[in-house]
Amino acid sequence: MLARVPLMRPRLPEADAILPYLRRIDSARLYTNSGPLLEEFEARLAAHFGIRRQQVACVANATLGLTLCLLALAPRARRRCIVPAWTFEATATAVRAAGLEPWFFDVDADSWALSARDILGAKAFRDAVPAAVIPVSPFGAGIDRAEWDRFTAKTGIPVVIDAAAGFDSLVPGPTPSVISLHATKLLSTGEGGAVICTDEAFIARVRQLANFGFEPVRRITRPGFNAKMSEYGAAVGLADLDGWQGKRRRIATRALAYRALLGGHKGIALAPGFGGEKVQPTCNVKLRARRADALVEWLTKRGIGARKWWGNGCHRQPAFARSPRTALPVTEELADTVVGLPFFADLARRDIANIAAAVNEFLCQGE
Ligand SMILES: Cc1ncc(COP(=O)(O)O)c(C=O)c1O
Repeated sequence: MLARVPLMRPRLPEADAILPYLRRIDSARLYTNSGPLLEEFEARLAAHFGIRRQQVACVANATLGLTLCLLALAPRARRRCIVPAWTFEATATAVRAAGLEPWFFDVDADSWALSARDILGAKAFRDAVPAAVIPVSPFGAGIDRAEWDRFTAKTGIPVVIDAAAGFDSLVPGPTPSVISLHATKLLSTGEGGAVICTDEAFIARVRQLANFGFEPVRRITRPGFNAKMSEYGAAVGLADLDGWQGKRRRIATRALAYRALLGGHKGIALAPGFGGEKVQPTCNVKLRARRADALVEWLTKRGIGARKWWGNGCHRQPAFARSPRTALPVTEELADTVVGLPFFADLARRDIANIAAAVNEFLCQGE
């Protein structure tokens, strides 16, 4: 059944907004391989984050961005890369593409993210040194990057932050972060991603690896991928940046509307950071009871799109059945309690009220 209110309805810049940029592509006749639009897009992203252009590398998507970071950083003699089990499958997929094995750790119950302190205290971690760690910003909530800077300083183990949904909350620093510019994210090029790091030599290495591994002379010592962003992707990204402030306001007001309607209910909690200072591209709620599947079914029957965005946890995918893991009680609870509700920049206020009423009815019926 087609939902009357879809879970997600992205809106990228319309043709008229992209056209001036497309005309520039026609004149320059440069279509990819670091053309002028990509340079401008990277410069504007850098300005947005208050860093230099040499500290941003756009890539074809965030999954490849994560893989390239691991290729650039992870010591080749080690096999395992710590990832949270509570994440989208792309995190573990990127690890495999880099020739490593995901090692699933549990997340913190309050932040829904990996905790450096918990990892340092884990016996499993003391017994086997990983090649790298990928903390994930859960649904775009802010992540304490300084905690991970300290982790690397203390252990020498490289960290790459998967900030796929974290365009608004990202704070650049020496630990690299990767954002997704997919159509479902806050800022979009259709498909795309960006690696952000204040270490300019590292960003230069990522650029090389995104271009097959070519060094400044035409030589490859370590093969990379073709992970370049085209001029067409950059054109869409520039047009989306032009409209970012308005889009952000629309998203923020809808998050506040949800918070006002659902924030006080004792049977439900909003995802960490949702409706706060930074915006997120999805709306996730956590039920007190382990009834996520029942809520998805309840809403779907009423024509309201709902989904467990991170399913039953990444560790439960057959592809990762043999991957090592620690005990995962928090992830397993989140998998049974977290549901994504409809959320997008032009979601009608009336629809938010109806969704909140349907959720409330579900909660009362369960009491
Ligand atoms: C946590 C996480 N990591 C990685 C990705 C992959 O991003 P992309 O689609 O740009 O490869 C996503 C996409 O939704 C994500 O949610």
